[in-house]
This record gives sequence, structure tokens and C-alpha cells, in this order.
Amino acid sequence: MRSVFYLCGGCGKMRAMKTKTQSRASRAKQRVAKEARAPYTATSNSIAALDLATLDQAAQKIGKTTHNIRDYIQRGRIAKYDPDGKRITSARNGELRVSLNELRAFLSLVAQGNEKHHHAGLHPELGFYNVPEHERTKHVHRLHPYLGKFIPQLVEWFLTRYFNADDVILDPFMGSGTTLVQGNELKSHTLGIDISEFNCRIARVKTNRYDVEKARREILDAERRVTRFSKSLTHAPDANPDFSGAKMEKLKASLLAECASDYLKTWFAPRALLEMLYYRRLIGQYEYQDLLRVVLSRAVRSSRLVPHYDLATPKEPLPVGKEYWCRKHSRMCTPIAECLAKIHAYSEDTARRLEKFNQLRSDKSIAIIQGDARVVDLKQALQNTPIANRLIDGIFTSPPYVGQIDYHDQHIYAYELFGIPRNDPLEIGPKRSGKSRAAQQKYIADIAAVFRNVLPALRDDAKIFIVANDRFKLYPEIARQSGMRIIEEFHRAVTKRTEQGDNPYQETIFLMMKENNAALKTAGQ
Ligand SMILES: C[S@@+](CC[C@H](N)C(=O)[O-])C[C@H]1O[C@@H](n2cnc3c(N)ncnc32)[C@H](O)[C@@H]1O
Repeated sequence: MRSVFYLCGGCGKMRAMKTKTQSRASRAKQRVAKEARAPYTATSNSIAALDLATLDQAAQKIGKTTHNIRDYIQRGRIAKYDPDGKRITSARNGELRVSLNELRAFLSLVAQGNEKHHHAGLHPELGFYNVPEHERTKHVHRLHPYLGKFIPQLVEWFLTRYFNADDVILDPFMGSGTTLVQGNELKSHTLGIDISEFNCRIARVKTNRYDVEKARREILDAERRVTRFSKSLTHAPDANPDFSGAKMEKLKASLLAECASDYLKTWFAPRALLEMLYYRRLIGQYEYQDLLRVVLSRAVRSSRLVPHYDLATPKEPLPVGKEYWCRKHSRMCTPIAECLAKIHAYSEDTARRLEKFNQLRSDKSIAIIQGDARVVDLKQALQNTPIANRLIDGIFTSPPYVGQIDYHDQHIYAYELFGIPRNDPLEIGPKRSGKSRAAQQKYIADIAAVFRNVLPALRDDAKIFIVANDRFKLYPEIARQSGMRIIEEFHRAVTKRTEQGDNPYQETIFLMMKENNAALKTAGQ
């Protein structure tokens, strides 16, 4: 085995080291050096966010030894800073500082057993490690599951620091409308574009203005009626007499006759299918029809014949009554056979969430445009809205990542149940197209086409925030092809997700500006 020689810091002698150990050490060293070069640019904001301290001060405040803190630095878990908050590789005498907030964020991940996802230079405030689940899914954010949502705290953090009340904020990849909800709460006008009709419906349902009393009455009335129907299906004692004997058989036959979808027939147990078809039939009798569709869709999603741990990405339906080992509940489970339990679970919950958001929302306008963001005519789409003559002040968005998610397919049950038209071929970067070099090139061209399409509607000094898991480093080229310049990058660990499993990853929030303006800014004008 090859050996390398090094000067031992302990005894001052030359010592031999086995190649494997050496390469691990040098890899760690390279990583630390690379992270030190990472473009975390200190601004006045970020210096405050860093909360700098010397090693001794940090040890005292955090309740660790200086030795511990040196160890975190050496392992590349926290960064070295100078007194001005600039990241450095080596400090002049007495000038070494660490960030107390970065340390706290790191230790909170250690406490959760997630240490390996904290790397030096991650933004100290953007991990949101201590934000509890109920806050990450507060009020209408939990009206319907959605793969690929960002958390409202991330939107809040940037909107409160970089924008003002009454600004106009665009999300050209709106998804389920997180930017619109939070932007509205912060008194911004918001507009969102999404190619998927069902995503637009979720976003509209979240952001609509309701007579909340009426919305509650309608949701609970539909729940009551489907409950009586269901009891008649199972011959419970307080079943509806209108649903007895031959009448019930006729009703069941007519409901099933309205269901042409093979998907619905195979992914749901017979009782669940009848309950959802009955609920669907009731919807036409109410005012807030899309709201009821969203309640039903959420219940239907949880009523598929799939393992409880696999609701986000189910592979195939299980046979009715088939026992399986459930990773979520750590016991043997059978797939759910009814939809009613989920309708119960989500009806009151939905009414409560709408009421909560209703207390927080502002009177600013919200526009939702269903279409392909590469070609949507923003001027025309906004002409009858309160922001028809306004320039857009900024963007906060999270584009699809290359080859990660099929956005229509994740809600296939809703498309099938409500007969919603699909636009799969217009989705950018879908999972089915993979992550090959060719897929990446197409992705670059498509995302750049979106920004080129919307940039003319933006002010020259608009701030453009793009949240991306840019593991293929495509965004510098996207910026170039769109006529934008990257001004700053914020890096954060994503360790808590509700929808995409538990594999943490890191994402970057790029702050970009239009090229001309960015050039002026760089030149200090
Ligand atoms: C990462 S998701 C956005 C999630 C959103 N930030 C949220 O919190 O719900 C990306 C979205 O881009 C949409 N999308 C994909 N191709 C598009 C296109 N050509 N035009 C507009 N939207 C598109 C997808 O439908 C998906 O909803």
C-alpha cells in the first residue's frame, strides 16, 4: 500500500500515513476549502444574522468547549469568519470569529441526528430547524398535499426583508400557491402561473375570499349527507330510509355508471369508490364547489389502496384487505377500504383553516393564471385586474427541478375523479424525461424561456429569488440565457419535508437581477 509522509503536529517528526486515510483527510480539507469559497456574500443583513463571536465567547454562550468548536470547524460543519462577517480560510491573530446562529443551527441538527446535513456556510437562519410541523403547515397551507412545496417560513423570510407592502410579487411556477398565500398575508399583490389546472384549483381554493360561515355550513352539510349514504351502504342502524333495499341498489348502479375511469376502479376499495362518487354528485348543489372538490380530493388521496407510508409516490394498488408491514405505524396494517373516515378528518379541519387564514389575509389582489409560463401573455392576462398597469417588483419562485417530479401525475386521482384536462407535455423538467445531459440542456432552455417571457413585465431593479436544488449547476447558464445576473446565493439544508420522504438535501436560493441593472449595481452606480 502506498504511504505518504507528513510532519506530525504533535511530535514534530515526519510520519507515514496510509493512502486511504490521507485521501479522506485531503478530501475533507478540499471540502472545507471549497465551502470557504462558496458564494455566501455577507451583507449588512447577513452579518446581523450571523451573530459573530470569538471562540471563547461562543464556547461560553453555547455551553461547549473551545476544543469542540475548533472540531466543528475542522470537520467543515461551521465556517470561519473575520470580524466583518466575511468567510475566510485562515484568520489573522485574534481575528477568528464564528457565527453563533450557524452554531445553533448545527447543534439543533445534531440533536435531531441530522448532523451530516449541516455544512459550513449554510445560512444560519434558513434551516428553520426549530419550526414545528403545525407552523410549517399553518392554516391553508395544509388544505391539500402537494409534492414539492416550499415552506411558508422561507417565503416570509425573503418577502419581509426584500419587499414592501403593496409590492407586486410574481411566482411563475406557482404550484399550490405558497408564495401567493404568504405574499397576501404580508400585504403584497401576488400573481401566480402554473401549467397544471389542478394546482391552480388548489391555489384558488386557498386564496379565495369566502363567507366563512357559509363555507363551513356547506362542507359540514356535504359531510353529513355522505355519512348517511355510507351508513346505508353498511346497513348501520341510523341509515337513511331513502337509501333502503332496491333504491340503494339502483343508486349504487347509477353512481358506478358515472365512473368511466379504470384508475378509480382499480385504486380504491368498492366502498370507498361509492362514497367518493356520491360526494362528487353532491358538489353541484353547493356554491363553493372547488372548495368541496379539494376536501374530497384530499380525502380520496388518503383512501387509495396503498401502504400508509407511501401516499406521496405509490407504485401499485394493494388488494383489498391485504396485510402489509407498515413502516409508518410499525405494525401490520391493511389498506383503507373507505373514504368516509378521511372526509370526516378533513371537513372540520378545512373549515377551521379557512377561518384562520381569513383573519390574517389582506385585501391585496391575487391573480392566478393557468398556462405555460414560457408563453403566457402577462399583460393581457392582467388587463382586468387591479395591477393591470403596474410593473412587477419581484419574483419568488421554485421551478421544477430537472427529472424530479411528474406534477400532473402526483394528482392523478383528482384528474380522474373530476375529469380535469391535463397538460403533461408542457411540464418543464418532468421526472419521466430523466436527468440525462440532454434533459438538462432542455431544462436550461425551458426555464430560461420562462424568465425571458416574464422579465419585460418586471421593474428594472426587480429582485428575482429562485429556490433550486441545483445539483447539476445549471442556474448560472439559465441566468445567462435569460439576461439575468446572480447577485447572491443563500444555501440551506432541507431536512424537514412533509411530502417527499425523509431524504434531506441542500438547496440554493439565488437572488438574481436583470442583467443591465445587475451590471450597474456591480459597477457601484
Ligand atoms: C416546485 S413546484 C412549485 C411549488 C410551489 N413553490 C409551492 O410551494 O407549492 C413547480 C411547479 O412548476 C409547474 N410547471 C412546470 N412546468 C411549467 C410551465 N411550463 N409553466 C408553468 N408552470 C409549470 C409545475 O406544475 C409545478 O407546480
